[in-house]
Amino acid sequence: MGVDNKPRGRFRVVPLREERLERKLALAFGFMSFIPILLVVWAMVYKVDWSIAIYPIVASALMGYFIVARRMIKSILVVTRQATAISQGRSGGAIEVDEGSEIGELAKAFNRVTRELEDKIDALESSRQLVKKLLSRIGTAIISYEGIDTILSLIVEHTAAALEAQVGSLMLVDGEKQELSLKTAWSEDGQPINATYRIKLGDGIVGWVAREGRPLRGSGKAAELGDTAASGKTGMILCVPLTLRDRAIGVIAVFRDDSTRAFVEDDELLLASIGSQVAVAIENYRLNLDVERTYVETIMALALAVEAKDPYSAGHSKRVGFYAMKIGEALGLDEEMLRILNDAGVLHDIGKIGIKDEILLKPTSLTSEEAKVMQQHPVIGEAIVKPVRSLQKVVLLVRHHHERYDGTGYPSGLKGDAIPVGARILSVADTYDSMVTDRPYRKRLSVEDAKGELQRGAGHAYDPAAVDAFLQVLAEKELRLASSKEAAKPA
Ligand SMILES: [Fe+2]
Repeated sequence: MGVDNKPRGRFRVVPLREERLERKLALAFGFMSFIPILLVVWAMVYKVDWSIAIYPIVASALMGYFIVARRMIKSILVVTRQATAISQGRSGGAIEVDEGSEIGELAKAFNRVTRELEDKIDALESSRQLVKKLLSRIGTAIISYEGIDTILSLIVEHTAAALEAQVGSLMLVDGEKQELSLKTAWSEDGQPINATYRIKLGDGIVGWVAREGRPLRGSGKAAELGDTAASGKTGMILCVPLTLRDRAIGVIAVFRDDSTRAFVEDDELLLASIGSQVAVAIENYRLNLDVERTYVETIMALALAVEAKDPYSAGHSKRVGFYAMKIGEALGLDEEMLRILNDAGVLHDIGKIGIKDEILLKPTSLTSEEAKVMQQHPVIGEAIVKPVRSLQKVVLLVRHHHERYDGTGYPSGLKGDAIPVGARILSVADTYDSMVTDRPYRKRLSVEDAKGELQRGAGHAYDPAAVDAFLQVLAEKELRLASSKEAAKPA
């Protein structure tokens, strides 16, 4: 592990050559003081008429002023004026001076410093644009709720690209195992990264940074960042800790495959700045996750509490989730949608927590007024689930699970495809489970009768595709047995 902590490049010092300026000053002194004094002495010694002697004295002084002093003073004034204009931003150009002395050198040095500053400003502007682009991309990811993993991947990718690195990775400290585990990584050549990569605290540059909590620049292998595809590649590594309350919770590192281009302090500052934001984002995410997990557990408990009030509906929510998943599978929906259907099934009637017991548990038919109150439960359920970010895709399913395919349902009277597909599936699952379960006001239907009811309602009350899919899965012996057994429980 090689460490490179070279100081930043400094401005080159322009040497002043005193002799040229001294010579000119001596010349000016000679013409303006020494020669006039000699002439005065000459005039006094030889009793020369002052009206004659005054001419060479004045001529000498004037020559001194015009030939030497005036030119020097003029150059100094020009340099000062233009330097002031440049420093105040009134002029972007260089100082124009043809003085061959130190003043000219000073002007040239000033011009050189100005050019270097302009280069630095250009570089800063370029960095600013990169950061702006990065923030804009991250902002889009946050707004579209792509999740913390996507956001971290984006940060690593764009940061590595901005630092002209070929590999970037973000690792988190596993305190128990005293090691770093890879959270996300990016490789310019698109090669897959070893997702299970781990490195002991203290090992290599990244392990050292995580243990010491200090940034480090040096040479090392791409494999240190988890890039096994380029494990043999050696280059430059820059790694900074993700620090939170004086404790490193992880590291962010970049690898450049050109060993001749070491990372500089500016790169380190940029990465450290991004790293500090990432550390806060991860901490916030963890805190939010804890709060959200607690909230989800609470509302899941609420859903069970609703069922506990009504012995006839015990187990109903879980079965609806199960059936809805099976319908989703038969329709070829993806894993995420199946999970959403299961959650929506468990939570679909959670709004009943807001309905009075005398209506909710009434053993006889509801009056029209009572029915109106009861029909509020999908809206109440929507309000309960809405604050949970991880359940955002469940919200509309809870709200619309009593819509009917022909538009005569509630609460919005949506029709056909305007009803979310998950809600159409939920409606079939919910109705079926209600039909095959005993109710205080009626006995349960047989599976065959319930199937018949669903078929009759297909295209009117229910989405025909969802009904077909459910009839198909009900034909499977396993599910049929499970549903009959489950449905029999509350009776
Ligand atoms: Fe319901």
